[in-house]
Formats: sequence, structure tokens, C-alpha cells
Amino acid sequence: MRAVDIIQKKRDGFELTKEEIQWLIDGYVAGTVPDYQMSAFAMAIYFKGMTTREISDLTMTMVGTGQQIDLSEISGIKVDKHSTGGVGDKVTLILVPLVASFGVPVAKMSGRGLGHTGGTIDKLESVKGFQVERSQEEFIKQVQDIGLSVIGQSDQLVKADKLLYALRDVTATVDTIPLIASSVMSKKIAAGADSILLDVTVGEGAFMKNIEDARRLAQTMVELGKAVGRRTIAVITDMSQPVGTSIGNRLEILEALEILQGKGREDVTHFICELAQIMLGLANIEKTVEEVREQLMNGSALRKFEAMIQAQGGDLEDLYRPSSAQYIVDITADQSGFISELPAMEFGLFAMRLGAGRAVKSDNLDYETGIVFEKKVGEAVQSGEVVAKIYANQKISEEMLTEFKKNVRIDVERKKVSEIIEVIS
Ligand code: URA
Repeated sequence: MRAVDIIQKKRDGFELTKEEIQWLIDGYVAGTVPDYQMSAFAMAIYFKGMTTREISDLTMTMVGTGQQIDLSEISGIKVDKHSTGGVGDKVTLILVPLVASFGVPVAKMSGRGLGHTGGTIDKLESVKGFQVERSQEEFIKQVQDIGLSVIGQSDQLVKADKLLYALRDVTATVDTIPLIASSVMSKKIAAGADSILLDVTVGEGAFMKNIEDARRLAQTMVELGKAVGRRTIAVITDMSQPVGTSIGNRLEILEALEILQGKGREDVTHFICELAQIMLGLANIEKTVEEVREQLMNGSALRKFEAMIQAQGGDLEDLYRPSSAQYIVDITADQSGFISELPAMEFGLFAMRLGAGRAVKSDNLDYETGIVFEKKVGEAVQSGEVVAKIYANQKISEEMLTEFKKNVRIDVERKKVSEIIEVIS
């Protein structure tokens, strides 16, 4: 076979065979297919798409390019969760201990943030001492002992995705359904859980900009999961504004602690309880959202979270430490009305420039910086009232302040928001 023929076949809109897909992906991982041919292949997929069968073959080929985790030593139904990317998305930090507090084992591998999106692993690393790299034995033992662990994605898992994702990131080929579906599902299948909850984000700050595309991505991934015997449910969630009130690593840890202490905002608390109810259902535990909320309020989830922090070497005193950012700048409203838009992408990029995110993979993070919103979309605001606070370790220029304010959009009419838009099972 020749890479150029496979690229041409896809470019011209034909369906590839399993052997062709496997030859190309294996060659890429082995280094015999160069980046420039893989980029052309990714772009051909971007424009011509893939059939369900091709996506399935691509996914399983990718799974085969690395190790597969065997979680069978952990008793019970293991559940996993994955988000297709968000701004201010600290959901895993609360959802995992909440679900684990019902006795459902959660062995989760998470990623780092890039560009406007944040990563759970970076947030956890903002806690002094917290270890995100564990051997497979340590990972499994911790879940057996305390019921949960969140670690960084092993280098040995789905090697094709590591290479391909980095390439897609710099060739404008991330936001295409076949490549997102195969990237997410290959990692979830290799990570070994029995059941999977997928959070498919939609809106300005997400890869899927409209509900139709989000629905197609969700359906594709649910089918992929089912085809390999993993119970899979996808929820389509709103990413037009940041999740909750904070963006930035330390700031999001603090917000997660507030929610785990039962002192979080009602909307995000309710949203997480709904997700937990679905995730528990995937482990055959039927609870009402109210029962899940009671568990959150009685401190069980917080105790699980603290247990995980300690088990992975984190310092409990440091966990509760406020941000040490040097400058905290209030942003006030220029007019009265209702917050109508807080574009997630723009604020994600703003936080990135403060050091809370990475422009390129090699960037170092400043864990202390970011944004805390005092008002979210749909809420009333008076002229002069504080809408948000910027946490920075650099002086914020007038230009940056103007840019920030421009993105806080205020209208005379109240806009309705809902976090979960649709559930696909
Ligand atoms: N998240 C992933 O893991 N992969 C993608 O391609 C997009 C989002």
C-alpha cells in the first residue's frame, strides 16, 4: 500500500477498508508515514467525513496502538467520564468523588489543558504535592482501597492519539466528528471502564458549535461504546459560557471545594447532581437527583475528594489555600440590565494569557491566575456593580480591561440558560 493512494481515496470521498486505515495509522505510529501525509489525511477526513464503519475501524485501530488497562481486579461496575472540552470545567473534580461516595469505583485518566480549554490534571497539580503520575498497580490499588483515583493519561495508552492530536491541533483538523469520536472513544475503551458517561459540549467555547453536530458526535460515540460492550450515555451540555464561576487552576479547585461543601451556586450544583445520577445509573444504582444532592450536602463527596488528594500525596492545608495572585482587579458593569453573553472561548483565551492555560504544549502554567465571575448569563446587574474579578500576576493593561469588558454583554431582556441540553443513550 501507499499512503498517497489512501489519502487520495479519502480526498475523493470513497470509503476506506479496515486494512487501509490500519496500515496508515500503524505506519504513522511506527514513523514510516510522515506528519505531512497524516496532516493531508486528517484534512481529507475533515472535508469528506467517514462512514460509521470507518470510524469504528479507526477507533479500534487506535486502541491497538497502545496498552489497554485491565480493571478487572477492582470489583463492581467501573464507570468513567469524559468531556469533549470546556472552559472553567471543574465537573470531574466534584462528580468523581460524588459518584465514588455511593460505592461506585472510579478509575479515571484525565488530560491537560490546551488553548482556551482547561484540563483536570493541571487543576489537581495546583495542589502542593499532588501526584498525577502513578503506576498501573498503584492506580488500581488506590481504587480498591478508597474507591477513586484521577491520574494523567499514561503515555503507553493509544499512542496514535497522542501523535495525531498534536498534529490536528496545529493543522486545523481538531473539530471534525470522525477524529473527535475516535480520539475520545479509543482512550475510553483502552482505559478499561465498563460504563462511560460522555459530556459533549456545544456552543461558542466548544468544538461543536451547533446542536445538530453535537448530537451527531454524541450518537457516533454512544454507538462506538455499545459496539464494544461498554454501556455509554452522552449528555449534550452548554458551553456558550464558562462552567460555574471560575476559570483557572487554583480558582477552580476552590470553586470545586465550595460545591463539595454544599456552598456552590445552585445551577452548577444541580447540573453536577444530574450528571451523577446518570453516572450512578450506568453502575445500576438508581437514585433521584434529590438523593444525590443529599449525599453532596452531607459531606460524603468532600471526604472522598480529600481522601483522594491525600492518597496521591497532596497537602490538605494547601488544598484550601486561597489564590496568591498579586493583583485582583474588579470588572464593573457599564450599564444596568441582564447578562446576556459571556463568550466561553474569549474568556478561556483571556485566562490563558494570564498564565492559566497553555498556548503551546510546552508552556508553563501560573496556577494562581484566572477569572471569577460574580454574575452569569441571565442574571440582573446594576451599572457599577462588580461582574467579575481578574486574578493576575502581571499588571492588567487598559487594553486588556477594555477587551474583557467588551465580552461582558448586557441586554435589557433576560436570557434563559440550561446546562444539560439533551441526553443520548
Ligand atoms: N477531546 C479529545 O480527547 N479528543 C478530541 O479530538 C477532542 C476533544
